[in-house]
Amino acid sequence: MGQRDLRSFLEGLDDLIRVREPLEPKFEIAALLKEAQGRGRAVLFEQVAGHPGARIAGNLLASRRLAARALGTSEDRLIDTYVERGARGVPPARAREVPAQDVVHREPADVGALLPLVTHHEKDAAPYLTCGMVLARDPASGMRGKGVHRMMYKGGRRFGILLANPPLSLYLANAEAQGRPLEVAVALGVDPAMLIASVVKTGPLGPDKMEIAGSLAGAPVELARALTVDLDIPARAEVILEGRVLPGVREPEGPFGENTGAYFTNRCPVVEVSAVTHRRDFIFPALMPWTADVDTLLALAGGAELLGQLKGLVRGVVDLELVPGTSSFAAVIAVHDCPRHEVRRLIHLALNIDRRLKVLTVVDDDVNLRDPREVAWAMATRYLPERDTVIVTGLEGYIIDPSSAGGSGSRIGFDATRGAGAQFDKIGVPAAAAARARAVLAAIDRGEA
Ligand SMILES: Cc1cc2nc3c(=O)[nH]c(=O)nc-3n(C[C@H](O)[C@H](O)[C@H](O)COP(=O)(O)O)c2cc1C
Repeated sequence: MGQRDLRSFLEGLDDLIRVREPLEPKFEIAALLKEAQGRGRAVLFEQVAGHPGARIAGNLLASRRLAARALGTSEDRLIDTYVERGARGVPPARAREVPAQDVVHREPADVGALLPLVTHHEKDAAPYLTCGMVLARDPASGMRGKGVHRMMYKGGRRFGILLANPPLSLYLANAEAQGRPLEVAVALGVDPAMLIASVVKTGPLGPDKMEIAGSLAGAPVELARALTVDLDIPARAEVILEGRVLPGVREPEGPFGENTGAYFTNRCPVVEVSAVTHRRDFIFPALMPWTADVDTLLALAGGAELLGQLKGLVRGVVDLELVPGTSSFAAVIAVHDCPRHEVRRLIHLALNIDRRLKVLTVVDDDVNLRDPREVAWAMATRYLPERDTVIVTGLEGYIIDPSSAGGSGSRIGFDATRGAGAQFDKIGVPAAAAARARAVLAAIDRGEA
């Protein structure tokens, strides 16, 4: 069983890093999250400078172990569990109690005074919400949808919002076509399984992400009515912002240090907040851009999805790894006994199915696709540039990719699979000798030999 909300998830972690020193929400919280990333443990800031009573939680998905914890499964079953549960839906239930509305601030004058908004990188223009789960309803079809959308605090009760992806980008276009604002609710501090569900690629007409969230968590999401917009909210969230995206308004946004590891500026729609509600002793969530947390989210919601699709299209596809730190712009796929023309078809399909994927390497499954040394070895010894390169041009570049910045983009695939012949066999020592060597070394480590 997964956890039902953020605080029960945190309570279940025996290796939670508790920070008692009151750090500043400007840079210091972010710096500690970044320094602690390599430990793969979640962090709870028990005090925040300038915000008495507030707490901040971060690095919640800094390792596959934490993601497995979020889904109530083991690390080696993580992807399979995600795929099995993601295919099912568990309908949400009506909440009997709504802790997310313990405290209500209608028409707040200064959201920045109410919440410990975090400023992450040194050239960031302002504090940003980086893990707000934004909920909205399509004014055309009535369908509800959600996604993670970064939001820049502009002072008072205004935020810029990057709506680059469906379904919310489409909902805003539909609202603007009717000359109306788009109502939104932003849930902050949710069960990590729900956060994972909110970035699942379902396509504009895909299944309801609240149902996927319920399935991933192993329990229905409890929903309640928002107070100032006509939307349902997760009742057990820590904090909710309610508001409206103003029709036809675009304002400068950024610079902001993005998941691509580069600063990004843009012109974005604006949200005017109509209410802030929160739990009495709320825990504010932080997600540091360009970290393992983002890699984990993308590996599940992007990588696992793409692997499933490709397995159904090309025989011999075995595994897929989104290269950490690349915001899923780079990936490695492993195949078994896949003829060269099929590898080429696979490259074309993958580069076209996924809007983010820009650099794809295909290797055989004797290569450990999670080990950069082995992938580089396959490229160095099995790949012949003039024969094994596929370049696709004239596609749309992804908006946060600095090299194309949303303009025309191109993509590349490398076939680093082996040809026929013993010259491609990977060298190795016999398995029995390796096992003996491990046993001898272990004995030395124990001081017995
Ligand atoms: C950490 C993270 C941050 C994201 N930030 C944004 C954002 O600021 N704006 C946006 O439009 N999409 C953002 N997304 C993607 C959306 O949540 C998107 O709806 C979701 O990934 C579905 O993918 P697709 O519609 O591109 O296929 C982000 C995704 C992740 C994992």
